[in-house]
Amino acid sequence: MGVALVLRSEVPSVVAGSHVTGFMPFQEYPLLPKEMAGMLMPLNNPRGLPWSTFVGVLGGTGQTAWMAWEEFAKAKKGQTAFVTTAGGAVGSIVVQIAKLAGMKVIASTGSDDKVAYVKELGADVVFNYKTIDTKAVLEKEGPIDVFWDNVGGTTLDLALDNANTGARFIECGMISGYNSPDLKPAAPKNIMKVIEKCISMHGFILPFLFAKEGLLGKFWSVMPGLVEEGKVKGREQVWRGLEKWGEAMHAVLTGANTGKAVVVVADE
Ligand SMILES: NC(=O)c1ccc[n+]([C@@H]2O[C@H](COP(=O)([O-])OP(=O)(O)OC[C@H]3O[C@@H](n4cnc5c(N)ncnc54)[C@H](OP(=O)(O)O)[C@@H]3O)[C@@H](O)[C@H]2O)c1
Repeated sequence: MGVALVLRSEVPSVVAGSHVTGFMPFQEYPLLPKEMAGMLMPLNNPRGLPWSTFVGVLGGTGQTAWMAWEEFAKAKKGQTAFVTTAGGAVGSIVVQIAKLAGMKVIASTGSDDKVAYVKELGADVVFNYKTIDTKAVLEKEGPIDVFWDNVGGTTLDLALDNANTGARFIECGMISGYNSPDLKPAAPKNIMKVIEKCISMHGFILPFLFAKEGLLGKFWSVMPGLVEEGKVKGREQVWRGLEKWGEAMHAVLTGANTGKAVVVVADE
């Protein structure tokens, strides 16, 4: 997803001089066919926020976190949420939304620096899953009512084992499998728990949420205010120049990124 300044346009819905967001090729001056015009969303920025905000906390990242939470979490004050990759772009926003909903938040992430950051965001129990046993934490701090799954694999299995009856699993990503030869994470062995514990699992991709009537409008009526008031913070790690794209993607897939990985091509 990118944000672009329109320099020239031959369709009325895309106005020269305005900013738009959508899927973009990795080019400094993309030339998009007319057929793609409908996939570009015009951006209003009355608060004068940095344009990178619209690929991060107010872009696809924030929309993924807020809209899927709104749609599937059925959050109840005092219940417990477990959020994975909690120091990353989507995960860190989910942590903050879950806290605003009054939930106890257990959060896992892959470095001590990220643990410190997620604690700052208000999560109740934060641990580095590379050095601390996830199973022991969930057995002590669970059971879980909402599981935000960004990793899949063995963590999903442990969440199934430590879920409460009626838990909601939000299947956002399975990054533990993205570097495996078949792109698949380890298959869960505990899937039977879905039946025993009456768990509902909700997989989604962002366009599916865009198609839900009124949901995106609700996002725009709520999130910019929360961001402006500092109630939801989005951390970014910026690489400058298109040639740095590979570096940024490598960081995301090795866990070296801190916050939303953003490649800035131009500042306007
Ligand atoms: N469904 C949708 O529409 C949608 C939209 C956007 C994103 N997503 C998903 O959301 C997840 C987070 O994406 P993001 O853009 O916010 O990235 P991110 O969390 O900023 O970066 C990815 C993080 O994943 C963790 N990671 C990397 N390799 C891993 C591995 N092998 N095993 C376990 N964790 C690993 C690392 O965090 P740690 O240091 O904490 O391990 C890394 O920092 C991804 O699974 C992505 O596919 C889904």
